[in-house]
Order: sequence, then structure tokens, then C-alpha cells
Amino acid sequence: MYINQDKIRKFSNQCFTELGMPEEEARVITEVLLEADLREIHSHGFLRLPIYVERIKKELTKTKAEISYEKDTDTMTLIDGNNSAGQVVAYQAMEASIKKAEHFGIGLAAVRNSNHFGISAYYSLMAAKKNMIGIVISNTAPLMPAIGGAEKVIGNNPISIAAPLKNYEPLVLDMAMSNTAFGKILYAKEKNQEIPEGWGVDAKGAPTTDPNKVVNGGFLAPVGGPKGFGLALMAEVLTGVLSGGDFSKMIPSMYDVNKKQSISHFMLSIDINQLIPLETYYNNVEQLISYVKDSKKATGASETYLPGEIEFLKEKKNKTQGVPMQEQTFDKLNELSKELKIDSLTE
Ligand SMILES: NC(=O)c1ccc[n+]([C@@H]2O[C@H](COP(=O)([O-])OP(=O)(O)OC[C@H]3O[C@@H](n4cnc5c(N)ncnc54)[C@H](O)[C@@H]3O)[C@@H](O)[C@H]2O)c1
Repeated sequence: MYINQDKIRKFSNQCFTELGMPEEEARVITEVLLEADLREIHSHGFLRLPIYVERIKKELTKTKAEISYEKDTDTMTLIDGNNSAGQVVAYQAMEASIKKAEHFGIGLAAVRNSNHFGISAYYSLMAAKKNMIGIVISNTAPLMPAIGGAEKVIGNNPISIAAPLKNYEPLVLDMAMSNTAFGKILYAKEKNQEIPEGWGVDAKGAPTTDPNKVVNGGFLAPVGGPKGFGLALMAEVLTGVLSGGDFSKMIPSMYDVNKKQSISHFMLSIDINQLIPLETYYNNVEQLISYVKDSKKATGASETYLPGEIEFLKEKKNKTQGVPMQEQTFDKLNELSKELKIDSLTE
């Protein structure tokens, strides 16, 4: 089903303001969730609204942000989110990183004690909109074992790198460091289908193509085996370790509603024009993408896509036809409206 953008915006904002959150902060969370669903990254869209609300109600996430700047140099800032909403902390941190880059060419915000921030592309794109390159990494609760391990020690930590293009939407790589989302394994289990090699391991850490073995005590596998594991581990260094925040097994799942999460982020902005003339950059990057777009196509393929391109095409389509939503999410949001005593999405 498709929901009118204004309707879901109003609904989501109201869910947060009803709990006492300032309007501007509610708007930031709503826009990040909306962007995810428009890009059809439904795992990080309004499906997460009920858990965010629950965590605020349980005072695991602050209703009003209390963000403090612990350290500030020309090019770096250390931010403590003090358990404020992840999107609000990440948005402010990325703004701080961009501001530093405007003045000094490069800006890093290291963030601790934040919360789940949704899709990482939202923040890297903030830099790209200012003709900068944005690099955003977050850690998250552990979901994957080490290579040869049989215990969760590392999150499927998301990374996003956005780079502006002159006449088109920015290039934006936005990915988790697991080979696939857990939801896709659940889907294969329900459909009684095998999963491809490399998606998951069983409870003893052995590779498997049986989704049941992954779901029942097994784990997601890192993208590209040891390389993905290494990437995810280094993401922990750049986020939790570097900011003096939490990392790896210190972080509980966001669905554990008895514990605070304390997520860490790394947000870097690079002002291209302070390194090479912007025109030179645009000529170079356009040449790069033409190599990809004009390349010979594989048998059966009609197009070669750039990072983020498929999501931008979906977003464009969904901005006119409405926000795609699964019925289950729609029902959960309407249940939430009863709990919060606000208008449902059907009113
Ligand atoms: N906040 C968190 O804790 C957290 C944790 C994990 C993931 N996430 C988010 O989940 C989202 C989904 O991650 P994912 O790894 O499942 O994404 P994905 O596998 O759908 O896509 C990963 C990347 O591959 C690109 N891509 C896909 N198909 C392509 C093709 N045919 N040609 C060229 N490029 C292609 C996409 O544009 C994207 O940049 C991301 O937005 C990520 O930030 C967030």
C-alpha cells in the first residue's frame, strides 16, 4: 500500500511530540524514516517507529536532546549524545562536521552515547548537498561472529560514502557490513528456500545454506568473509573506540527494552574545492561514472548501476505515488496511534 507523504509525516511527528519531544527533533527523526521508506529500505523506515517510541517511553532514549560538545579543535569535535535520539544526534554531528569542513577543508565528528540513527546515507548526503564528500559509519549491537568464531562479537555496522555529481543525484554507497539483512534469511525460511553460501553460519559457526540453522541460534556472516569482518572491526575502532564510547559486546540490541544502547558514530566531511577545483572534480567523477554506465553489459543485463542509483530511482517514483508500506507496518502504526491517543493513519 502507499501512504500520502504529508499524512505519514504528520503522524510520525505527532508520535514524538505527544511524548514531549520538541517539534524540530521529531521532524529530524521523521525525515530520516521517510527517506528510508521512499528509498525502499523498509528495514529502516517507519517499521522502526514503534520501537523508538517504546524506548523513549521507557526513558532509554531522552525525549529532549541533551547533546554536549566534549572537545573541539579546528577540524575535529567529540560529541556526547547523552542517550538522545540517534537521528537528532547524528544530524547535529554531521552539521558540525560540515561546518568545520567549510572553514578548514575537513571536519570530523566523533560521537558517543547516541542511539540507532537509521539509514547512514541520510547524513553522508548532507555533505554531498554542500559539494563535499561525506563518510558516515556507525556501530550497532553485535550480530556476527569473528571468522572461525561462534559467538556474536561484531555489529553489521553501516557505512555510507556520498560524493556529489554535477547533473545527477550524488553517488552514495550505503551498506551494512553483513552479507545480507536478517529479514532476508527469515523470508527464505518462511518460503522453505535455501540461502546462498556466505549469508549465514549455524550456532557452531559453520557455514550453512539452511536458513533454519541461521535463525535458530546461528548468525549473519560478514560481507566478503574476512574482509567484511575486518571492515566491521575497524568500524568499531573508528566509532566506539575512537570516541571513548561503547563498542561490540557492550552494546545491547535496540529491542532489549531494559537497557540503554550507547551507539557511537564517525562522521567525516571533506570540502572538495579546498583540495582541487570543483570543476576538475566534477569532470573527473563524470568520466569515472561514464566508464561504468557506458561499459559493456553482461549477458542478460541491460544496465550497470552506480551506488545509490537504484534507491534514487525508487525515491523519485515513490515521491509521486506515495510512501510504500507493508500492511503489517501500517497495522502496527495504527495500534500505536491508539496507545498514544492520536489520529490513526486511516483517519
Ligand atoms: N543504523 C544501523 O544500525 C544500521 C545497521 C545496518 C544497516 N543499516 C542501513 O540499512 C540499509 C541497508 O543496507 P544493505 O547493506 O542491506 O543495503 P543493500 O545491500 O540494499 O545496498 C548496498 C549498496 O549496494 C548498492 N547496490 C545495490 N544493488 C546494486 C546494483 N545492482 N548495482 C550497483 N550498486 C548496487 C546500493 O545502492 C547500496 O549503496 C542502509 O541504509 C544502512 O545504512 C543501518
